[in-house]
Amino acid sequence: MKTAFQWLEKGLALHPGLGRLYMRPYRTLLQQESELAQLKTSDRVYLIGCGAIPFSAFDWVNRGVTHITAIDQDETALKTASQLTRKMGIADFFQWHHTSAEAVDFSRCDVALVTLQIYNKQAVYQRWLTQAPAGSRLLVRQPKPKHAKHYGQLPNCLLPQGSVSYSMKAFDTTWLFHKGGQA
Ligand SMILES: C[S@@+](CC[C@H](N)C(=O)[O-])C[C@H]1O[C@@H](n2cnc3c(N)ncnc32)[C@H](O)[C@@H]1O
Repeated sequence: MKTAFQWLEKGLALHPGLGRLYMRPYRTLLQQESELAQLKTSDRVYLIGCGAIPFSAFDWVNRGVTHITAIDQDETALKTASQLTRKMGIADFFQWHHTSAEAVDFSRCDVALVTLQIYNKQAVYQRWLTQAPAGSRLLVRQPKPKHAKHYGQLPNCLLPQGSVSYSMKAFDTTWLFHKGGQA
């Protein structure tokens, strides 16, 4: 299923109308996540596992965010996403990093979103905890229990400072961690 979504996004990126339809079910959760992270227009925001249609980042642009770092280990997905932002006239807001989630440098990150498909979520969390500046927020999309083996999940013992719930096919919760205090 993971690979199917990656291919789906690459295909849909070529057809903006269909791409918009694909993004529609995510609207509510994207709004909930932005509110949970108390997203500000001045934030430097990282999308980890951006895919060929980085729709989470498109939502941030709509909210006035202008410093987005999009990260993916798949070079083709990054190229497709970069072309899409050029077509949309929003390319100036993006930086593209071809690297794995586990190697991200969080030292200049105000908000990061770990997408569902990032398997080793705990390694990313630990790195963020070590590197991110005070005040940084980390959002992690958690799979439904029956998909946990497939997508990987953070253990309950990590105790997030906040969360939002919604209903998507494979995931239904986003956890928030706030470095250096309560959100
Ligand atoms: C299908 S996309 C979904 C993201 C969605 N477009 C969004 O905006 O929320 C998931 C992406 O995660 C990437 N990915 C999976 N594991 C990764 C890892 N360990 N490091 C970096 N990227 C990863 C895949 O290459 C894929 O392009």
